[in-house]
Amino acid sequence: NKIVLAYSGGLDTSVILKWLMETYQCPVVAYAADLGQGDELSEVAVKAKATGAAEVHILDLKEEFARDFIFPMFRANALYEGAYLLGTSIARPLIAKAQVEVAKKTGADAVSHGATGKGNDQVRFELTYMALAPELKIIAPWREWGLQGRADCVAYAEKHGIPVPVTQEKPYSSDRNLLHISFEGGILEDPWAEPPADMFVLTQSPQEAPNTPQYLEIDFASGDPVAVDDKKMSPFQIIDHLNKVGGEHGIGRVDLVENRYVGLKSRGVYETPGGTILRAAHHAVESLTLDREVMHLRDSLIPRYAELVYYGYWFAPERTALQALIDEAQKPVTGTARLQLYKGNVTVVGRKAPKSLYRPDLVTFEAGGDYQQADATGFIRLNALRLKIRAKLGER
Ligand code: ARG
Ligand code: SIN
Repeated sequence: NKIVLAYSGGLDTSVILKWLMETYQCPVVAYAADLGQGDELSEVAVKAKATGAAEVHILDLKEEFARDFIFPMFRANALYEGAYLLGTSIARPLIAKAQVEVAKKTGADAVSHGATGKGNDQVRFELTYMALAPELKIIAPWREWGLQGRADCVAYAEKHGIPVPVTQEKPYSSDRNLLHISFEGGILEDPWAEPPADMFVLTQSPQEAPNTPQYLEIDFASGDPVAVDDKKMSPFQIIDHLNKVGGEHGIGRVDLVENRYVGLKSRGVYETPGGTILRAAHHAVESLTLDREVMHLRDSLIPRYAELVYYGYWFAPERTALQALIDEAQKPVTGTARLQLYKGNVTVVGRKAPKSLYRPDLVTFEAGGDYQQADATGFIRLNALRLKIRAKLGER
């Protein structure tokens, strides 16, 4: 009887809005979340109304996104396939969670989204819907209707009087939020083709970045960044601020081919300036404050955690269980990283922590401390025992 659509104001979701009304003959609620994508959301509301939305709900989720989604993921140092900071992946569960809440509030019995049937996003949206509100009906127009791609979409829009953006369509698709902007499709589908210089939004090219390096200090408390250059900031403000400085220095561009959950390989280009800085800074503070075995254990879990986020299992018990372990391990991660930003690089140049495990008195090349060098003789001898036994058998 009523559908809540995750609506962005773009052509695809505008066409979907119309198509849902026509196909299901029921009111459609347009819902949009502000995740720091920088769109004028009042314009989105006007567009939704003009296209026929029965209600428009716009939610500001910027702080929640930073505090309850990005920060926990950064406590884990998550990285998918060694390169992708998961900027789109981490946004979907929050968009879907708030959408479910809008559905409950407005008495809707169905939810819909604009993700295609070929990608990761459909899985992330729908796993979240089902984990949080299994009773809701899910409508995925791209998997149902006869429209085959962008050209069909434009034709449908023209036929139904939906304003098609007058600005020249970009020859690729992008998705932006506080953490990143992604580019895929179109001219990027050739994995040999270099992205055009004018595509980038959040960063300038390293070549054009300032010739003088900039220094930054980031304070962490229990694994979360809390201040930059001694200025306390909210989670959203920290990432927003680091995006600006990092972007100026050309930091956080990545061009890769990744494995989608559905089994396809896909070429993606990402800009994640603030996130790239944060990950380096966080690691620097961990290097002083984390016990070796705890660090190695956590490190071994990074690929698994990243996979869970990428595949869309944010609201799954295995992610929650892993998070509990990670958060427990992050308790001592309090301290400060000092970084240099220069032409696309972020370099750690200093780190300090009030409860540092680093012991200069012990590690020093000079004499001193409680460390008995002679202890190492037995340490090495016992560790080598099985190697010696094997060598003596002559089976190397
Ligand atoms: N490939 C990235 C991911 O799966 C980015 C997806 C971008 N999504 C989009 N609707 N443009 O997380
Ligand atoms: C989409 O298919 O809608 C975007 C790409 C993805 O979800 O992986």
